Amino acid sequence: MSERRPLHVVPGELLPPRQPDRRHLLSIRDLDRADVERLLATAHSFALSQERDTKKLPTLRGRLVVNAFFESSTRTSSSFELAAKRLSADTLSIKASGSSIEKGESLKDTALTLSAYDPDVIVIRHQQIGAPQLVASVTDAHVVNAGDGKHQHPTQALLDLYAIQDALGRLEGVHVAIVGDVLHSRVARSLIQALELVGATVTLVGPPPLVPRELAEVSYEIASIGEADVVYVLRMQRERMEQGANYVPSLREYSARWCVTPERLRPGQKVMHPGPMNRGVEIDPRVADSEAALVVDQVRAGLVVRMAVLYDLLTTGPVAVETSAGVA
Ligand code: CP
Repeated sequence: MSERRPLHVVPGELLPPRQPDRRHLLSIRDLDRADVERLLATAHSFALSQERDTKKLPTLRGRLVVNAFFESSTRTSSSFELAAKRLSADTLSIKASGSSIEKGESLKDTALTLSAYDPDVIVIRHQQIGAPQLVASVTDAHVVNAGDGKHQHPTQALLDLYAIQDALGRLEGVHVAIVGDVLHSRVARSLIQALELVGATVTLVGPPPLVPRELAEVSYEIASIGEADVVYVLRMQRERMEQGANYVPSLREYSARWCVTPERLRPGQKVMHPGPMNRGVEIDPRVADSEAALVVDQVRAGLVVRMAVLYDLLTTGPVAVETSAGVA
């Protein structure tokens, strides 16, 4: 007879589902397919509202959105700020540079300080994996992960889905080739999960040291991008690479072998890049400026998707699932 093992019941596991007291968007794993479809539909409604002369909506009047960016950003920080403003929320933005973090204040104390203003949402970008989870553990605000190390960037994945759907009219069955430095990419990790949720397929393409095998199907041949509907280009994320590690012989050789050029694309393919782009390294300027490129559409999608995320969190949004990453 096999040995009997004790049952392990997590407290609350057997209770009926309920609306949680706090909801966060820390990872794509916090969402199911219905959540994603609802968020994309809400973003579409906001896109229609942005075509009017008066773009501001009263929806979140009296709410406070704090944008705490401890790592550099152009697209994510500007779109979250504009999204909150377009929904009539008050905004408060802090960056590491010029804040008391430079005097040694801990992330926990910064989060407690900002929470004293009773924000409804804290949007956080941080170089350390798990920083958004730490903030979520000490604040009553809803927390949105705007990028933590190489872990997750869930609103980037949502805006990418929005841009793909807008361009191709569908997500189910779409084949996306993600090309470049997948190893250090939170964008890739979030996008792979999001594409799988909506029934799309993914191939990771690049040199073996930069393309982990455990995330999705891989190819070490640049020619394989020809099979995809969408070619999603990643930059070399040198700020997250281990010091002294040599993943490629040189940028020149990387570019010669892996740069997405017009010659390597076939007609009808779409090309995406989360930005910032390094023209001439991972993407040929002729591709970046071509009709095939959705880069500006992605930025535009970022505004309406982040409006949808703020709206969703503060109204009827997704049920949070705590993710397991801790602060390193
Ligand atoms: N895609 C992205 O996260 O861009 P930023 O770093 O400019 O926010």
